Parts: sequence; structure tokens; C-alpha cells
Amino acid sequence: MNFVKKIAALMMAVMSLIMIGCGDEQATKQNSDFVAVSLPVKFPERWIIDGNELERNLIEKGYNVNLEYASENKSRQINFLNKAIDDGAKCLIIAPVEASSLGEVCERAKSKGIPVISYDRFIMDTEAVDYYITFDNTKVGELMGRFIEDKLSLAHSPDTVFMEIFAGAPEDNNASMVYNGYMSILSPYMEKGKIKIVSEEDKFSEVATPKWAPELAEKRMDRLLKEYYQRGQRLDAIVCPNDLLANAVISSLANSGYKQHYPIITGQDADKVAIINILNDKQGATVFKDTRILAKKAVEMVDAVLKGNKPEINDEKTYNNNKKIVPSFLIEPVLVTKSNVQEVIVDSGYYTKVDIGLE
Ligand code: BGC
Repeated sequence: MNFVKKIAALMMAVMSLIMIGCGDEQATKQNSDFVAVSLPVKFPERWIIDGNELERNLIEKGYNVNLEYASENKSRQINFLNKAIDDGAKCLIIAPVEASSLGEVCERAKSKGIPVISYDRFIMDTEAVDYYITFDNTKVGELMGRFIEDKLSLAHSPDTVFMEIFAGAPEDNNASMVYNGYMSILSPYMEKGKIKIVSEEDKFSEVATPKWAPELAEKRMDRLLKEYYQRGQRLDAIVCPNDLLANAVISSLANSGYKQHYPIITGQDADKVAIINILNDKQGATVFKDTRILAKKAVEMVDAVLKGNKPEINDEKTYNNNKKIVPSFLIEPVLVTKSNVQEVIVDSGYYTKVDIGLE
């Protein structure tokens, strides 16, 4: 190699070293301070609002965000979280697809000092969960139970009422909490024979809906109507644990040719369709959980944890995930019926009048 060639080779080597350096720097820059958000699914639409609001609040506080929806697929969720840990996430916000499937990945996060926040849904069976933020899920169920109790005057009227019950996904801890909430109000009336579950299906395992899948709820309702309500049997109430399932049950009623007294139907989430159903007397009530507040509070929690401060907690006893009691922040849910849609949903800016067909 002559002298000029040597110099050229040296310069190229130096240049490529500089370029590698730049590349690395850019990678670290892109990855610095990002919070990974893993949400289970895009429907019901509340999860989209959760995602948007989490992103907005995190960015406002100066964090980068890596958000993914897992399409109710637990492996996809685990892969995303493992990659986030490898890429240098500073904190994980997780609403689990399956409550008990995240032990390993959360423990990996813990071993690297990455805090884990369980969001809306509870992560079970691992010590590697730092905090939980959610709505009071028992209260969600109690609001449904009390609504039915009031509407059917269970405490005063001498009549027997006929009812069917649905519950959410067995792999989601929220589903059994909501179920326990409404059963705490309704089961005393069932024991007295005042409420009759015509199908006799009332245990959680009999009424649960895997993956909260509306098509399964619709199928089950079709079967119940066919088996028990074809010969004039009246159905006074259907307890539905969320609006997706309520809407499935409403379709089943419409398609089955059921002509008797229209039942009272409950729900949860204040889905747009549910609000429209409520305004059209097809659904009695929904339980509104203002996801804007949930997301904002979750981001405050993340920010406190990452700055080494203690986040705001208001429950240190309820949420035991089989390994530890997870310090939690619970938000109050609100019952929405036709009479307070305007005040709770429209005036608060959750939906516009146009969204729900009022203008
Ligand atoms: C949430 C509900 C939601 C359901 C189905 C539950 O964990 O708390 O708001 O309707 O999952 O996605």
C-alpha cells in the first residue's frame, strides 16, 4: 500500500467509526425515557380512548411512548413487553390479556429495575407488580345490581322477577370482581325466590364469556331464548357486564322474535352504541368509567415512580394478586341512565351530541 492509499484507508476507518458512533447515539436517543404501554384490544372503544389519553399525557410530561394493542393475544403481549425491556423501556404500563400469564416477563422487568404498573386489569400471581390503577370493580358490579333492584322494586314489590346473568372473561380478574359486585346485591333475592334465573345458570363458570367475545354472548343468549323463553315466559332483566355483551344480547333479542315484556339490560364502559341504545330504551344503564381520568392518574403514577417519589395510593388492602397486596389507586365509576346522559357524558365532553345521535 502506498502512502496515499494508507491515508485514504485510515480516513475511511475513522469515518466509519464516527458513523457507527452516530448510529449508536441516535439509537440511544430514540430509546431514551420511553414508557411501554400494552393494552389488550381495541374493542370496546374505551381502550382506544385509554391509548390516546395515555400517549397524550405521557408526551406532555416529556416521555416517549411505545404503545401496542395485543388483539387479546397473550403471546403477542409478552413478545411486545420483552422487546420493550430489551429496547430500554423505563416503565411498563400493562392491561393484561390474561391475568396470570405475565409473571415471567414482569420478573424480567423487575430484575432490570423497570417498574410495572398494572392498568385497569390486575396482573396476578407475581410479586413483580409495583402498583395497580383501576376503577373500583366491585362497585361497578354493585351499581348494576342496585339499578336492577331499584328498577324492579325488588325490596318492595311482591312479584317474582325472571332474570338471566352474563359475566366477562374468566382470564380477566375484573370479570369476577364485577360479577361478585352484582351478585352481592342480587343473590339475597335469588335465595328468597324473588328473583328466578329461569335457565338456572348463575355460577361464574356457567355465565362467563371467554375473551369478552360478543359473538359468544350472542350465541348463549340465542340458546337461552330458544330453550326457556319461547312459550311466553317473560324475561325482566339481563345482567350484562359490559356494553359489548349488552349489545350482543340486544341483537339476539331482536333476531329471536322475543315479543314479551322487554327486559332491563345493564352494561359497562359507556360505549357510543350503548349510549344510543340507552337513549332508545334498548338498554337500561351503563357504568361509565372515565378513562381520561384513569390515563391521567396512571401517568402521574409513572412520573412519580420514575422520579423516585411515592405515587398517590388510596387502597392498600383490596388487591391481593396471590403473591402480594398491590398498592392501588381506585377511581369511582358512575351509573349512567337516560336521565343523566347529558350531564355525565355530554357536558363532560366524553362524547358530543353528534356522536350519540342527539344532533
Ligand atoms: C374492562 C372493561 C372492558 C372489558 C373488555 C375489562 O377488563 O375493565 O372496561 O369492557 O375488559 O375489554
